[in-house]
Amino acid sequence: MSFSSAPSRPEDWWKSAVVYQVYVRSFADDDGDGIGDLAGVRSRLPYLRDLGVDALWLTPFYRSPMVDGGYDVADYRDVDPTFGTLTDFDAMITDAHALGLRIIVDIVPNHTSDAHPWFGAALTSSPGSAERDRYLFRDGRGADGELPPNDWESIFGGPAWTRVPDGQWYLHLFDPAQPDLNWRHPEVRAEFEDVLRFWLDRGVDGFRIDVAHGMIKANGLPDVGDSVPAGQRQVELLGRARLPYFDQDEVHEIYRAWRPILDSYPGGRMAVAEAWAETPQRLARYVGPDELHQAFNFDFLDATWSADSFRKVVDTALAESAIVGAPTTWVLSNHDKQRHVTRYGDGALGLRRARAAALLMLALPGSVYLYQGEELGLPEVLDLPDELRQDPAFRRTGESRDGCRVPLPWSGDVPPYGFGPAGGGPAWLPAPPTWRALSVAAQTGNPDSTLELYRAALRLRREHTAPAGSTEPGQVTWLESEPGVLAFGFGRPAAAGSTELVCVVNLGAEPVAVGNYGTPLLHSQPAGPDTPTTLPTDSAAWFTRPATG
Ligand code: GLC
Ligand code: MG
Repeated sequence: MSFSSAPSRPEDWWKSAVVYQVYVRSFADDDGDGIGDLAGVRSRLPYLRDLGVDALWLTPFYRSPMVDGGYDVADYRDVDPTFGTLTDFDAMITDAHALGLRIIVDIVPNHTSDAHPWFGAALTSSPGSAERDRYLFRDGRGADGELPPNDWESIFGGPAWTRVPDGQWYLHLFDPAQPDLNWRHPEVRAEFEDVLRFWLDRGVDGFRIDVAHGMIKANGLPDVGDSVPAGQRQVELLGRARLPYFDQDEVHEIYRAWRPILDSYPGGRMAVAEAWAETPQRLARYVGPDELHQAFNFDFLDATWSADSFRKVVDTALAESAIVGAPTTWVLSNHDKQRHVTRYGDGALGLRRARAAALLMLALPGSVYLYQGEELGLPEVLDLPDELRQDPAFRRTGESRDGCRVPLPWSGDVPPYGFGPAGGGPAWLPAPPTWRALSVAAQTGNPDSTLELYRAALRLRREHTAPAGSTEPGQVTWLESEPGVLAFGFGRPAAAGSTELVCVVNLGAEPVAVGNYGTPLLHSQPAGPDTPTTLPTDSAAWFTRPATG
């Protein structure tokens, strides 16, 4: 499977980039208030450069009441005081660029905060007013309009409608504090085009588009109806059926208007969609030369721990990317999902698998999105006290995403493990005592640590998967292997002269012989007596060998 052989251009940097997701409030706290901030990000840029990533994606740092961790934006053109100032942002991006790191920012166009001036104006204006028309206000059903306008459910649980004192209802696909915008309104479109320009002018290299599939709702706001099996929530249909509030065809018009804006700036400004669609084919429609550059491929994250499952997901993604002519993305974790160490079984088992999955992911062509802390092998924190949990979904569904958002351990023997300055306050969520051994300082220089595995893998990926200066991702050639094992050549044979790289992952129950794959380069498990001729279960290795073709 190969991609365009056109000579690669620096503007295409995103095609093979490793992007590191910074969940700003949990990355590094510079001012000691227990909450990560932009100055904290800036101070840790050298760490990220040395780790070997190409870009950072920063989660929202805009003015916000923080009902949903900043995904409830009150002012799209300013930094929330918790995170700093626009001056801090400028200093951070200047330093990042000087270190060769690009900056992707999150944009949240589906909804605003209820503290956004537009929503305030909508509430104080009457039903039918122009102010209300920027959102989705409707009369209720029932004799007195006492029932919600339709049967849509919030992703965070409960009805997607909240009633205001004059009797109308407004739509919020997420928290009531996140009212959905009316994207059929020209002012809404103009506003976001201007917001894009605001950040592009400040030098951002790209956008991660939040809920990119959600902005257009089916005309007439029809009921979902009885297609949802009893006892299930509508959200469980995601990826299986088209809901009237997601993945509507007209949403693509928005991206066709955005692309020329991105293209009008120099240096390759890109956009990646957080989109959920019924099928990989429908997801692929978000990507293309006249729409977005990429969409997250969450099927990889959702794959179960088996060779068949990963093989299927990889083959589907590669086939789709060949059709759309753009390389795919690979994601194992993010700020919304349980960390993959824990998903894969937690403890030593989960960590072994997570390390193997990292080598698999980093060997695949396309771009990779790492979630902060996965390079440390952090597990999900499962036992946070309920009263500390801040995810708005927790109160409505009992499910909480706080466990993957615990502030990073950097150094030292006591919490918050260097997250803030010496003498600073406790972090907004406490790290467990076991994280002392997982801090950046504790792992640095230990060749068996997960951090050093990531550092080595990122360096080798850079050296081997593309010819110097090229941004064209390589290709995958599946090699013969035992059942339960994935083996493929990756990179481009020309990349490292006359050698090629091979990745082998053992997802089966038995160790397998791997003596034939070449000279060992990197192993996800600490070397044992049989390394490199035997690959234990739940591990992966990279080899190099003379190019075959
Ligand atoms: C996206 C974000 C998530 C947020 C939601 C609402 O799914 O990743 O964190 O809660 O959108 O903005
Ligand atoms: Mg702070």
